[in-house]
Amino acid sequence: MDFKELRKEYETAGFDPARLPEEPIGAFRQWFQAASESCPDASFEANAMAVATAGADGNVSCRWVLLKGVTKLGIQFFTNYDSDKGRQIATNPRAAASFHWPWLGRQVRFEGAIEKTDRATSENYFHSRPRGSQIGAMVSRQSAEIGSREELEQLQQELESRFEGQEIPLPENWGGYHIIPARVEFWQGRLNRLHDRIVYVREDQGKWSKKRLAP
Ligand SMILES: Cc1cc2nc3c(=O)[nH]c(=O)nc-3n(C[C@H](O)[C@H](O)[C@H](O)COP(=O)(O)O)c2cc1C
Repeated sequence: MDFKELRKEYETAGFDPARLPEEPIGAFRQWFQAASESCPDASFEANAMAVATAGADGNVSCRWVLLKGVTKLGIQFFTNYDSDKGRQIATNPRAAASFHWPWLGRQVRFEGAIEKTDRATSENYFHSRPRGSQIGAMVSRQSAEIGSREELEQLQQELESRFEGQEIPLPENWGGYHIIPARVEFWQGRLNRLHDRIVYVREDQGKWSKKRLAP
């Protein structure tokens, strides 16, 4: 494979920053809706985002998660609080998240603080999931080393019998995170790599400024 020859032109019309709302969450909602409505294939998940966190040692980790909520403050996903990401967030509550919608030639990037969602939000989401996923969340000590797949499957069966006919309780170590951005960038691929980049930066008193960046 000659990686240097992998090349694609982004021939999109760009976008008019003046038509974006004055704050980034409204702009994100508009772009997300466009991405979701134009998604060409069910195998693309418009709500998949790469989330980066860093631990106290300064090492950075990045992984995909699924966006499960948008509030006026930011974006939410759900996970295991004892996972590697959970441990990093506990010591360094900062995160970056990035969406890529290749069928539109668009990227959106969030950077800011991250905090746990309230328990009621986690309860609501957990119980809205299929029962198999609820058991799966309870089975998995996410990011811990395990001996074999059989261990997981055995515990899955035990929990299925234990909770038969009952509601599965939300595990203590499972729930949501809320990324509350201080910076959100909207990127639109254009011809000859002269892309459009508009960044919103939260200034004092919570007001947002909007600037154009060089591609
Ligand atoms: C498309 C996609 C979506 C994912 N969504 C989630 C998610 O919403 N929550 C989650 O905990 N892990 C999700 N994962 C798994 C994570 O990428 C990761 O393996 C896991 O959270 C453990 O990460 P950590 O060890 O850095 O904590 C997803 C993976 C992919 C590829």
